[in-house]
Amino acid sequence: MKRIQIINGPNLNLLGKREPTVYGNQTFEDYFQELKQLFPNAQLDYFQSNTEGALIDKLHETGFTYDGIVLNAGAYTHTSIAIADAIRSITVPVIEVHISNVFKREDYRHHSYLSEACKGCIVGFGMDSYRLAVDSILHF
Ligand code: DQA
Repeated sequence: MKRIQIINGPNLNLLGKREPTVYGNQTFEDYFQELKQLFPNAQLDYFQSNTEGALIDKLHETGFTYDGIVLNAGAYTHTSIAIADAIRSITVPVIEVHISNVFKREDYRHHSYLSEACKGCIVGFGMDSYRLAVDSILHF
C-alpha cells in the first residue's frame, strides 16, 4: 500500500471559514474523509501547522520513507527558502498544490520558492487539487 503524507501550512486550518469565496466552504477535515474514501488502497496521513519549522520537521520525518508528499505551504510558498531547501534535502517526491489559481491573484503570489524543488505543481482546482496530486503519486 502506498503511503502519502499531506501537509498543509499556515491558515489552512481555517478552511471552511477563511475567505470562502476564494477557498470554498468545506473544512479540510471533512474533505480529508472524502479523500480517504476515494483512495481505500492508499494510506493517507494528514498534518497541518501554522509554523514554518514544524512543516520542515514533518518533511524530514516523512521525506525518506513515504511514497509521496502533497504540500500546500500556504503563504510560505512565496517566502520560504528554508522549506524549499527541506524539499531538496529529502528523497520522497513532493507535489506542490494550491487550492486557488495563484496566477490569477496578486503579483506576490505568482512566485513560488518551492516549485523548482518539487516534482510537479497542481494549482487552481479548488480542493480537488489534492485529489489530483494523490492520484499522480499513485501513478508514479
Ligand atoms: C494557497 C495560496 C497562497 O497564496 C495562500 O497564501 C494560501 C493558500 C492556496 O491553496 O490557494 O494560504 O496556498
